Amino acid sequence: MDQTLRYDGRVVIVTGAGGGLGRQHALMFASRGAKVVVNDLGGDAKGCGASAAAADSVVEEIRALGGEAVASRTSVEDGPGIVQTAIEAFGTVDVVINNAGILRDVSFHKMTDEDWSLVQRVHLNGTRSVTQAAWPILRDKCYGRIVMTTSAAAIYGNFGQANYAAAKLGILGLANALAEEGRSKNILVNTIAPAAASRLTETASFADFMNNLRPEAVSPLVGWLAHERYNDTKGLFEVGAGYIAQLRWERSQGHCFGAARQFTVDDVAERWESIVDFSSPEHPSTLAESLTAISRALSV
Ligand SMILES: NC(=O)c1ccc[n+]([C@@H]2O[C@H](COP(=O)([O-])OP(=O)(O)OC[C@H]3O[C@@H](n4cnc5c(N)ncnc54)[C@H](O)[C@@H]3O)[C@@H](O)[C@H]2O)c1
Repeated sequence: MDQTLRYDGRVVIVTGAGGGLGRQHALMFASRGAKVVVNDLGGDAKGCGASAAAADSVVEEIRALGGEAVASRTSVEDGPGIVQTAIEAFGTVDVVINNAGILRDVSFHKMTDEDWSLVQRVHLNGTRSVTQAAWPILRDKCYGRIVMTTSAAAIYGNFGQANYAAAKLGILGLANALAEEGRSKNILVNTIAPAAASRLTETASFADFMNNLRPEAVSPLVGWLAHERYNDTKGLFEVGAGYIAQLRWERSQGHCFGAARQFTVDDVAERWESIVDFSSPEHPSTLAESLTAISRALSV
């Protein structure tokens, strides 16, 4: 198999690497020379319980294949602890793959405080905690590759996943901000929205469809986004079943009433067709590019 792109000398943290997608990411990095921190709390799909076996078994698997790995059995809420494991075992961190996740699907009117907060804690707070603990190290060495994991269920919306959607788009917002903060320090932050069979998809309404999607088909994109040769940031990608595509924001041409002119609800209704007309769209990719439309409006 072609192994031109390798990670020799790189230290990679993969969270939630005891199973599913994270395990495949960890195996892929280790098979290409990375030193891997296999983090996993080892609880169930709803975030209950804990077991050292999840992280330990993947570390054993990697070592049996001749790779280098160390187990981190703590929750992603303890980012400093996970980064400390990397430092103690391998001396540094180069790559963070934020992948750990749970589901507590329930319709919004039945969602408890715990359903809401546990999902925020694992996904959004966990991603923040691990990334922020690694951040000063990456800044100091002027090198870092961070891959975040969001979800199509959050990007497009899905019934019964308000907690998950909020957390997963929170992660995308975090990625967008960190991409800007990391740019000058060669810390690149990109996000994937994967689709693959795992224990999280076993109970989904479309489980039969998902059954055929191999988790290992997601890892090659993660590997590329985490490689030193990859040099773009703030990307968002859908990936699954051997398909990879990039997403971006699209803005309609819109209508400009003019900054100085008074206008009413009736004016908005009258101009609605042109406000939502996507026939000649724009694709702003930064706040500055976004504000060009507002500054055009100011001059009208
Ligand atoms: N499978 C899909 O189609 C799909 C779709 C969209 C997004 N995702 C996302 O991909 C990621 C991986 O999910 P998966 O499908 O491989 O599911 P999975 O359940 O197989 O893997 C998630 C792993 O995270 C671990 N984990 C959970 N809470 C943790 C915590 N607090 N600390 C450390 N580890 C913890 C679990 O033990 C598990 O091993 C998740 O973030 C998930 O939301 C998956």
